[in-house]
Amino acid sequence: MKLGRLNHIGVATPSIAESIRHYRDVMGAISFHEPFDLEAQGVKVCFVDTPGTNGMNGTQIELIEPLGPDSPIKAFLEKNPSGAQHHICFEVPDIAEARTHFEGLGKRILGPTRIGAHGTPIFFLHPKDMMGQLTEIMESPKENTLWTS
Ligand code: CO
Repeated sequence: MKLGRLNHIGVATPSIAESIRHYRDVMGAISFHEPFDLEAQGVKVCFVDTPGTNGMNGTQIELIEPLGPDSPIKAFLEKNPSGAQHHICFEVPDIAEARTHFEGLGKRILGPTRIGAHGTPIFFLHPKDMMGQLTEIMESPKENTLWTS
């Protein structure tokens, strides 16, 4: 498998609005994407850009807030009421190849491959098989339109 760039770090928050204020006023972030509901994963999502160097793509913070009473991050936020780092997401060129790779290593994959917040296929790997990190694997967007807005 070919490891691609670190696409984003997922951060669970009780309030995207409050987290936006934090990233703007404390961290100096200036580029925020419009929040949207990702019904399939039971979360509201807001991407915050961090700049790259030499014109290369930066990475992002993915703020995730529970959407509805059955959100999969509800229990996580009960344990971490002020929010906490939730997952890391790496890009790969070919999601099917990556899935076969991790399955071959006996790593537990959480659910089917599905469409993620960037509109490309993703899956999650169990943190206990990944040195303690809930790990999202995401196929790189074919057209590099995410980073130009
Ligand atoms: Co993510």
